[in-house]
Amino acid sequence: MALVPADARILFCGDLVGSAGRRALLRTLPSLRERLDPTFVVINAENVAGGFGITPEIADELFAAGVDVITLGNHSYRRREIYPYLDQHDRILRPANYLHAQPGHGHTVVERGGVRLGVVNLSGNLFMNAGRSAFIEADGLVDRLTGAADHILVDMHAEATSEKVGMGWYLDGRVTAVVGTHTHVPTADARILPRGTAYITDVGMTGARDSVLGVKRELAVQSLVTQMPVRLVPAEGDPWVQGVLIIASQPMRADSIEQLLISAAP
Ligand SMILES: [Fe+2]
Ligand SMILES: [Fe+2]
Repeated sequence: MALVPADARILFCGDLVGSAGRRALLRTLPSLRERLDPTFVVINAENVAGGFGITPEIADELFAAGVDVITLGNHSYRRREIYPYLDQHDRILRPANYLHAQPGHGHTVVERGGVRLGVVNLSGNLFMNAGRSAFIEADGLVDRLTGAADHILVDMHAEATSEKVGMGWYLDGRVTAVVGTHTHVPTADARILPRGTAYITDVGMTGARDSVLGVKRELAVQSLVTQMPVRLVPAEGDPWVQGVLIIASQPMRADSIEQLLISAAP
């Protein structure tokens, strides 16, 4: 038995896309808090600013709404104004396996009610631009955070399902949860792995479902049909909040992972 209390309920929501995603989360969070009683709220917000990146104003708004940690991904640097913010604020993360010279950092520890949650953001290396290996970086961060945190949540932001599944197996028993983001489509494989790590390949996105991955569908389809550049903008219709609730009672182990697919229509 642990000497420290390790009861934690972790709400993690997938990529917020545009203002529809931001509004869907902000509108739904109070009722989610009531119903799910999360100890920690962690969200991926790499697409929240017009579909690409995040601004300091939006990050401030999400933190003010009670979000504990924001994770990002390949769109981390789309807005220049966020660079100093990434260096200055502990609770917003870009992938840890980016180059050290790139702005920001990739892990943090937050404490609520005596329970410490370590959060790690990683980028896949397959079909993605990440300067260093996600797997080697994960080893180092798990070593560093074990003892400094009761739980570790890893946001594995990756394109290839194989790489995300591999990361789940690689970290099974060493972290509380490995959750996938980036592909914006929720997968049906949420489960507790044999050594106690909660895993899902993609939690989905928080944004307009009347879209192609959160982007206006006419524009996305036009780009696919014509094979020509099209300026993509976020869609608005049929907003949903997509994520998971992970419940844990023992350090670095999950009891359950529940998929959340919630209509957030105004
Ligand atoms: Fe995304
Ligand atoms: Fe992404």
